Amino acid sequence: MEGDFYGCKLAASEYSDPMTAKRPLFVAANWKMHTRLVDGRVLVQEMSDYLRQAPVAGAVDIAICPPFPYLHMHEGAAHQAGMWLGAQDCHAADDGAFTGDVSAAMLKDVGCDVVILGHSERRALHQETDAMISAKLRTAVAAGLHVILCVGEALAQRELGKEHFLPQLETQLLASLPEGVADAQVSVAYEPIWAIGTGKTATLEEISEVHVQLHHILRTKRNLNLRVLYGGSVKANNALEILSLPVVDGVLVGGASLKAPEFCTIINAAQHAYRQR
Ligand code: PGA
Repeated sequence: MEGDFYGCKLAASEYSDPMTAKRPLFVAANWKMHTRLVDGRVLVQEMSDYLRQAPVAGAVDIAICPPFPYLHMHEGAAHQAGMWLGAQDCHAADDGAFTGDVSAAMLKDVGCDVVILGHSERRALHQETDAMISAKLRTAVAAGLHVILCVGEALAQRELGKEHFLPQLETQLLASLPEGVADAQVSVAYEPIWAIGTGKTATLEEISEVHVQLHHILRTKRNLNLRVLYGGSVKANNALEILSLPVVDGVLVGGASLKAPEFCTIINAAQHAYRQR
């Protein structure tokens, strides 16, 4: 059987496994360096109230990723509401003389379940290389954290055409993802850099094309069936159409995750999309 996703032909077995095809969608909130303690508490409270009225267990996995200092403070409320707690980075070592850094084991200690690695803002601002991200990922997984591994092309790369940026994405993905991880340990987030925080979302065709490729690379090169999330200006008004794409397994949300009504609409869209699968 072959699927036709906006012109991308792929055998259905290459992106969906009957055993895992109906796995929960994953909606992750990347708060970046936003929210003070009170703002975060209100946000988590509003999300908890929503989830109490509209439970999503089994259909949608939700993670919130606040700034480091607040992780422990949001731990109880996040877990009580059935959400995972995530950090936005970690160091590759367990301990050591690394001023200002935080290890995966420390994140685990304060109740984290998830860590985002390789976000383009960190790749750009902190010169994080694929090799550094791969080392962090290995440590994070060993510490028992689920990793959201971000990959994505810059506008200049995309403008060179798909025969250029798709192989670059493959290289970035495989170099950032160490061998030997399991499906449950990692999700990939495709985040085109030009769509992050710009209000410029990739089209459904562009998202499908890349997700098909990423699933294909993961399956053929690593024998993995990871969830592949989309990120980049996901909002309440476009989440449903994005999450309805069969090759999209969730979303990584920045700006729109800072307003509870908007983020809850995205959660609701994921639940709806899950039911349609
Ligand atoms: P955005 O950010 O939703 O604000 O575009 C996404 C991200 O950077 O993870």
